[in-house]
Amino acid sequence: MSQGDSTKVATLSRRDFLKLMGAAGTALTFAPFVPWGKFMPNPDSAKLEKVPVILPDGGQANVNTFPTNHAEVITYPSTGDRVLDEEAFRKWQFIRLPEELGGAKNDASSFRAFSMVCLHLWCLWKYWPQEGRKRGECPCHGSMYNPMTGTAFAGPASLQASPSNTLAKLDMEADSKGDLWILPAKFSPNDNGVVGYGRFIK
Ligand code: FES
Repeated sequence: MSQGDSTKVATLSRRDFLKLMGAAGTALTFAPFVPWGKFMPNPDSAKLEKVPVILPDGGQANVNTFPTNHAEVITYPSTGDRVLDEEAFRKWQFIRLPEELGGAKNDASSFRAFSMVCLHLWCLWKYWPQEGRKRGECPCHGSMYNPMTGTAFAGPASLQASPSNTLAKLDMEADSKGDLWILPAKFSPNDNGVVGYGRFIK
């Protein structure tokens, strides 16, 4: 073997070794037993209050006017600061279910609000209302979410152990005028869940 050949072999080996190290690092980073919920930038539950569901047009969502099988992005908790309010962990898909999944009732039971942070690698998913879809889909690696429960049923997020297969959610209620409100959330896996980490189904 010439001097040049042995240099080439050594270079390739080093590159392969680095690739392996990278793969091992990725596997460790996403190991399911690590309590990632503690590190996520979730808001402090203690300061949260009941607030209106504010739609992108600035109005409050109402059960009498919001269309069935439709979703909008809402911000919670909103700070009033435009930059802070753009943070991914404050973004929720506010969904009125299709009629066949219970969306026809003019009360809060027709609605869902799930964190948009995908439980796989934290891309933002969204609801697709088209016939044959009617589900949440993540554009990055194809995880799909049940719009009634927030549980992943396909793709990599569906293979993760509970609670990391079910999205954090917000609880809501409607007042006598039909206006919708978000009840104060408690960001722990046994309550509303932890954004980017998940929620136990009770
Ligand atoms: S980040 Fe959503 S499927 Fe990977």
